Amino acid sequence: MSTIQEEIAKRRTFAIISHPDAGKTTLTEKLLLFGGAIQTAGAVKSNKIKKTATSDFMEIEKQRGISVATSVMTFEYNNLLINILDTPGHKDFAEDTYRTLTAVDSVILVIDCVKGVEEQTERLMEVCRMRDTPVIVFINKMDREGQNPFDLLDELEQKLNLKVRPLTWPVNGGATFKGVYHLLEKQMYFFKVNKTKVEDDVALLELDSEELDLKVGTRDADQLREDVELIDGVYDQFNREDYLSGKVAPVFFGSAVNNFGVRELLEAFCQISPLPIARQTNVRVVEPMEKNFTGFIFKIHANIDPRHRDRIAFLRVCSGTFERGKFYHHTRLDKNVRFSNPYSFLASAKEVIDEGFPGDVIGLYDTGTFKIGDTLTEGEKLLYAGIPSFSPEIFKELINLDPMKSKQLEKGVQQLTDEGVAQLFTLQPGNRKVVGTVGELQFEVIQYRLEHEYGAKCRWVQMNTTRACWITSEDPKKLQEFIRLKGTQIGYDKDNNPVFLADSEWMLRMNRDNNPDIQFHTTSEFK
Ligand code: G4P
Repeated sequence: MSTIQEEIAKRRTFAIISHPDAGKTTLTEKLLLFGGAIQTAGAVKSNKIKKTATSDFMEIEKQRGISVATSVMTFEYNNLLINILDTPGHKDFAEDTYRTLTAVDSVILVIDCVKGVEEQTERLMEVCRMRDTPVIVFINKMDREGQNPFDLLDELEQKLNLKVRPLTWPVNGGATFKGVYHLLEKQMYFFKVNKTKVEDDVALLELDSEELDLKVGTRDADQLREDVELIDGVYDQFNREDYLSGKVAPVFFGSAVNNFGVRELLEAFCQISPLPIARQTNVRVVEPMEKNFTGFIFKIHANIDPRHRDRIAFLRVCSGTFERGKFYHHTRLDKNVRFSNPYSFLASAKEVIDEGFPGDVIGLYDTGTFKIGDTLTEGEKLLYAGIPSFSPEIFKELINLDPMKSKQLEKGVQQLTDEGVAQLFTLQPGNRKVVGTVGELQFEVIQYRLEHEYGAKCRWVQMNTTRACWITSEDPKKLQEFIRLKGTQIGYDKDNNPVFLADSEWMLRMNRDNNPDIQFHTTSEFK
């Protein structure tokens, strides 16, 4: 039997992130093909919220239901057990993605070479930077006429506040794309339109060799030499430690749909990506090698079948060995719980497992005991830090349409917001409930689910609020005074933290300027 050290050394847990349409699904699928986890191209598509479904939330929920099975995709490659945690591409579910990012050890960021850095990429990278998550960049769609690669790298550095280091370099792009030169291996990978096969056309070519001229043509060979000289002059040598500490992101170029550049990416990932890492709790840093099991819930997925209210909680194992049927301590509720049917997501089929190791994600059936961020231990009182909430963008007050069903409504809203569908703020006096989301879709989802799962009817009243900022102060009296003065502009989040609800950026700035003793935080995660 292998030791826990060996199990940890084998695991790599990461997420692929991108702005929708950059090629995340395609790249995921190609990686799974390499790992033999799927046999045919197209198999991952069902995991994707289709573009045509953007206005039909029930369709989206259905698709999200299907995607539970593929929320974690595990495959083996080079003797490693690789877990890809899927993140929904749809903007309205961005919060889901932020939370998933707390459960990974590294990410691969996909950029469309035509569009460059897009809006959602910036938000996602903000989350990665909060935890110094190591990032590998894959610049995709090189078969299309894209931007100049140096310009793309500059854009990455500026917009994402991220230092980059190319490890492969494209020879041309678009219709004349010839392939990529691997700067460390000194090999030229020749591009072929190749949608299914996985073999490569590779040649070991020194930059100053005549053979390079023969293979790619003198003009392109000279351009490549010039580019490489510039790269060596501008960028520091690649250093794994800098990547692991989130300081530098290596960059690869390719074309996922043509299966090109994917193998180099995967090989590099296997060599440099981090093993399950140590994690911060409210008490101390927990090392994965520790004997005792600890883990946290980063995602909860409701059963979309209204007859079954049970949910699936996704547990990330952080240390020790998780065992089936053993009692663990639920630190927030201060009670012991155990799970008789925990399952893994291996081969996309649910499979009951007896044990789990750091890096693993385990599905637990939940009847309402879990909230996102909950921690399980063998008794130690600690909570994993850092499941951030971001300021929502749309705020609506929830109005109960059936006074006889207030209790159901209350319970439904509590549970749905525990799941992380949206954020709940309570306004006093009157216990008014304000729901904040990043997309309109969630309001429809909540309204539908309240009615069908909890039998409660509601309607929404749009609020003027556009920003929510968590407020703190060194001086509790000043904070109380601010809260008193602002009255209805103050709400309380689920953990009873005060939040300032601002109608505009201008109003927020004014309040900031006028109240230097109050700190305004745009995420719930602050020190
Ligand atoms: P996402 O998950 O990031 O949203 O993107 P997805 O992989 O679905 O890719 C978005 C579109 O980009 C797809 O086309 C996909 O085929 C295409 N694509 C992915 N990689 C490449 C590439 O290297 N080169 C080119 N030219 N296109 C690429 P679609 O038309 O939206 O879907 P489909 O009908 O082709 O599946």
